[in-house]
Amino acid sequence: MYWTNKLKMLWAGLLLVGSIQAQQVCVSTPGTSLVLSAPEGGELKYVYYGPKLAPADLEQLPAVEKALSAYPAYGLYPAQEAALAVEHGDGNLTLDLAVQRVSTQQEEKALLTVVELKDKVYPFYVNICYRAWQDADVIETWTEISHAEKKPVVLTRFDSGCLPIRRGEVWLSHLNGSWANESRLVEEPLLPGMKVIKNKDGTRNSHTSHAEVMLSLDGQPRENQGRVIGVALCYGGNYELRIDTQDDDYHRLFAGINPDNSYYKLAKGERFLTPALALTYSREGLSGSSRNFHRWARLHKLAHGTTPRKILLNSWEGVYFDINQEGMDQMMGDIASMGGELFVMDDGWFGDKYPRKTDNSSLGDWVVDKNKLPEGIEGLLADARKHGIKFGIWIEPEMANTTSELYEKHPEWVVKAPGRDLVLGRGGTQVVLDLSNPKVQDFVFKVVDDLMTAYPEIDYIKWDANMPIQNHGSNYLTMDKQSHLYIDYHKGFEAVCQRIRQKYPDLTIQACASGGGRANYGILPYFDEFWVSDNTDALQRIYMQWGTSYFFPAIAMASHISAAPNHQTFRVIPLKYRIDVAMSGRLGMEIQPKNMTEEEKALCKKAIEEYKMIRPVVQLGDIYRLVSPYDKLGVASLMYVSEAKEKAVFYWWKTEHFVNQHLPRVTMAGLQPDKSYRIRELNRIDNEPLAFEGKVFTGAYLMEQGLEIPYNHRVDYHKQNDYSSRVLYLEEVK
Ligand code: DGJ
Repeated sequence: MYWTNKLKMLWAGLLLVGSIQAQQVCVSTPGTSLVLSAPEGGELKYVYYGPKLAPADLEQLPAVEKALSAYPAYGLYPAQEAALAVEHGDGNLTLDLAVQRVSTQQEEKALLTVVELKDKVYPFYVNICYRAWQDADVIETWTEISHAEKKPVVLTRFDSGCLPIRRGEVWLSHLNGSWANESRLVEEPLLPGMKVIKNKDGTRNSHTSHAEVMLSLDGQPRENQGRVIGVALCYGGNYELRIDTQDDDYHRLFAGINPDNSYYKLAKGERFLTPALALTYSREGLSGSSRNFHRWARLHKLAHGTTPRKILLNSWEGVYFDINQEGMDQMMGDIASMGGELFVMDDGWFGDKYPRKTDNSSLGDWVVDKNKLPEGIEGLLADARKHGIKFGIWIEPEMANTTSELYEKHPEWVVKAPGRDLVLGRGGTQVVLDLSNPKVQDFVFKVVDDLMTAYPEIDYIKWDANMPIQNHGSNYLTMDKQSHLYIDYHKGFEAVCQRIRQKYPDLTIQACASGGGRANYGILPYFDEFWVSDNTDALQRIYMQWGTSYFFPAIAMASHISAAPNHQTFRVIPLKYRIDVAMSGRLGMEIQPKNMTEEEKALCKKAIEEYKMIRPVVQLGDIYRLVSPYDKLGVASLMYVSEAKEKAVFYWWKTEHFVNQHLPRVTMAGLQPDKSYRIRELNRIDNEPLAFEGKVFTGAYLMEQGLEIPYNHRVDYHKQNDYSSRVLYLEEVK
């Protein structure tokens, strides 16, 4: 038994090698290793992160690799960038952390290694934790900070981790954007100086920048070649990623909660937990790192990550606030007749004293507006039952309007600096509820609990959040702890999510936040998916979904077919193209079906039917991005391949249109060279089938040559337009 366990541990990748190298710790996943030097009484040092090491190479590392501080603390070498900085109870600003103990624990699917550090003088402790997943190439690292000093210790910086990266020609890929233009890809070389990526929104954190980045180690980033490190901070609140490049051979990446106006007074015995920083490594380019993140997300980070999602119609762009029983019934009937499986009633259904007519009232009053819905939610559920689909509902439970019964009753529950006037958000009346307050946490939990207790048939909740923290202050936190607000808000939010998940483990919940404000791995354990953007324009979505796919799997990316002209860009895009883009994520609809022609409905019905067939490949398969829209080659293309490589779905979207232009011929990736695949076009609108329709090709040919995709659709003259897209389904022929 003893030997079996020991062997298991060695095999699983943790190595505390013999007495000579007793200080070397190797944390491994199936394909990667992270090596640390942890001498008892000495400093914890980073030695290596990369592909999994052979024991023979691992043995050589102490002699040949530079050891750099694994978690630099401020004080003895103040000129260096620090991951942790504190002011001790007596005013001392320095830390000198030494290794006390290293322990390991076998978890169900991971190995947890904890390096315990203690300050050499003060009773101040930091545990550095590493969770190495055994079924995904991701290592998560975070810290637990505590002390036994008499007076509180003020934490002024508290990164989750630090990763040295050898200089060379390292490029950074990260996401940036704004509302309705989220997740735009930015690529840049890492140059000397400090690169900072941060968020200070307070409630949401991914409209502008993202807490996830990739580092290509072999020059300009490529999708399917080169060594790439992926980094994701798993946090839903304010964050800061810094990449410091000074005068030595390393870039140093630091990532953690943004300490700006968030210094934290830690009492004796209290524990401060930093969010996990997830690391991955791939030799297969950016797409390879994405596949690692996606697998880890589906298996461990996303609520119900391996359960295929329902195809839904959401009411927002169809009717906006104009909710009524008849209209909802009609939409339910329409989506059911097109083969959809779920209908979600968006904003506008609630409010008694102050009915929600537009965005300037009622948040907080989560009771049905009886004028709009005389039969209440019961009536809607009965309609859904009648149509044979499930029913979902929109809420924004962290928020209130000053025009609401909730605010009249509890003005003290809203975020605002004591003694100052409110700074108001959406509709000129929106305010954020103070989730640092346990009573507010109870209230927010109760919003969901009341709905689910009264109507257990509700299948899906769209959880929105449309306001940042403004006028920094809490009526609940004492005046000496106002700086805790940002952090305690998210602790409170997480506590509520945990309660909800404990009681309603099967509920599907979407994280929406004015579109894509909550695409992060801090909240995803509690949410099944997120709304990528309030912008549903298919062409712009190609760019946004491309960026999003760097870190998040298709199963989590809500992607809806919407109207033409598009409500955000006013662009008129043919339905075929809108469908082909939406089908590359978690397919849904965001449209008024009664305004669609019978021909359009038939096309959607066919697409939904075909999506059901490819759903497991799209939602659970491996992504291979092929041609980037950001490369401006006139076309964008990606594909998903099933784990056994016997099925694949290939997407091709023309992104610009000129006469006699020359688009690249796209070669596929991820297939098995010696397998044969039959090609079938989905969502076909052409009068003639494609030349390769029904034909069989080897994976080798498809990956070496690709298929010649016609630039335009062969349709009747009056149906010609400047858009062109293809979805091909590949199935192995034995
Ligand atoms: C913002 C969301 O992103 C939209 O999808 C919609 O739910 C509105 N809020 C409703 O107010």
